[in-house]
Amino acid sequence: MEKNEIIQILYDWNFWDRDQRAGIFRPTYISRLNALFSSNQVITITGPRRAGKSFIMRQMAKQIIHDGYNPKNIMHVNLEDPRFTESGVLLLEKIFKTYQEYIAPENSPVLFLDEIQEIEGFEKWVRMAHELSKAKIIISGSNARLLSRELGSLLTGRHLDLTVFPLSFGEFLSFNNVMIQNKNDCIAKELEVKRLLRKYMEFGSFPEVTLSDQKKEILLNYFEDVITKDLLRRFKIRIPQDLRALVKYILSNVASLMTLKSIERSLELSITSVKNFTNYLEQAYLIFSLKRFSFKVKEQEKSPKKMYAIDTGLCNAVGFRFSENLGRLAENVVFIALKRKQILNPELELFYWKDIQHREVDFVVKDGLKAKNLIQVCWNMQDEKTRKRELGSLSKAMKELNVTTATIITEDAEGEEKLQNDTVQLIPLWKWLLIEEGIL
Ligand SMILES: Nc1ncnc2c1ncn2[C@@H]1O[C@H](COP(=O)(O)OP(=O)(O)O)[C@@H](O)[C@H]1O
Ligand SMILES: [Mg+2]
Repeated sequence: MEKNEIIQILYDWNFWDRDQRAGIFRPTYISRLNALFSSNQVITITGPRRAGKSFIMRQMAKQIIHDGYNPKNIMHVNLEDPRFTESGVLLLEKIFKTYQEYIAPENSPVLFLDEIQEIEGFEKWVRMAHELSKAKIIISGSNARLLSRELGSLLTGRHLDLTVFPLSFGEFLSFNNVMIQNKNDCIAKELEVKRLLRKYMEFGSFPEVTLSDQKKEILLNYFEDVITKDLLRRFKIRIPQDLRALVKYILSNVASLMTLKSIERSLELSITSVKNFTNYLEQAYLIFSLKRFSFKVKEQEKSPKKMYAIDTGLCNAVGFRFSENLGRLAENVVFIALKRKQILNPELELFYWKDIQHREVDFVVKDGLKAKNLIQVCWNMQDEKTRKRELGSLSKAMKELNVTTATIITEDAEGEEKLQNDTVQLIPLWKWLLIEEGIL
């Protein structure tokens, strides 16, 4: 490729002579990025496809320009741009040279390299550029594997990661023009917030889905994209129907206990396929698994796992019956909210708890060595039998794990329940989500 062809493409991506669309601001991520930015490390932005990584990169560029950075000292490029007719590290080098020659940035400019997985062997180039202080580098791409294992080996100790998820409930409200800043806003807008929570559970929170009227079509598209681009192509899977069946199975059974064996039996797949496929799905951030809490590692590994999806909209789009499964969708929403917290605090560990009498607690939150909180998601607390069961399980688990605080997340019920010496807090899901995010 000629340099003047490259520079034309670069002009389209950059802020050198124009402004760029960067969507609705996501301050949580930008402030995290800002903190990482001051370190002398490569920054990797990972997360599921379509969670908004590219937009966040652009918001970051916009932000530093707003803070006084010269736009010419920033180069943003999407390496998936089909106009690039060459490939590999040579292309990357050529792009960088062209940028230096035509735009003449000062020393060590900031490079935003999006869809970097398109460049075979990019890790070496990134490492070299970083070590020689040629540039400050922020990279992103869709595949978890690309940004962990492969990158990990070459950039060990040289990169910091930002994981981007679909919208949190607070972000979802602001994407829907509902701003909650304090308790009073919350009282005034409670009905609206509850209405939006239902939408959040039904259609999930991918940014584009949130802003569009064609929600289901977009979700089905995402589903196909993850299957074909992130999984089939990447892992060279020979029987696509098997993978599709497994994904549908897991997405329709979120928050249920599953073992490799139980999936094998339901789908007539080999154990090896089930094992490999679930592993790939986790790498693509489509699903997550939750282990059972146990003091014995062996028991933990042997026990069934619970599976959760990155987005409840995806579950509903591929065949989950929304109204019949509100409780499980709520549980999925809580899981993802806890996962978001865990990203910020890697000391946190999440488990479910179950004893031999089949009493269950949905989530055990462990902080460092100690179990800190127990969480039960119970959509319907009116039913006396359910109430008794949920409280009984919590009480047993609190004793066993020596935990003094427990929470039941409900649709509406709020207050306290006394259990001999302990108190259990009841809180509606919408409120719990906003408190967890630090909004309330
Ligand atoms: N902050 C945002 N404001 C408005 N729309 C957004 C925002 N983030 C993402 N989107 C929408 O979602 C789509 C996917 O976002 P993108 O940043 O390309 O995801 P990723 O890079 O993670 O695959 C965008 O094309 C846009 O329509
Ligand atoms: Mg992108």
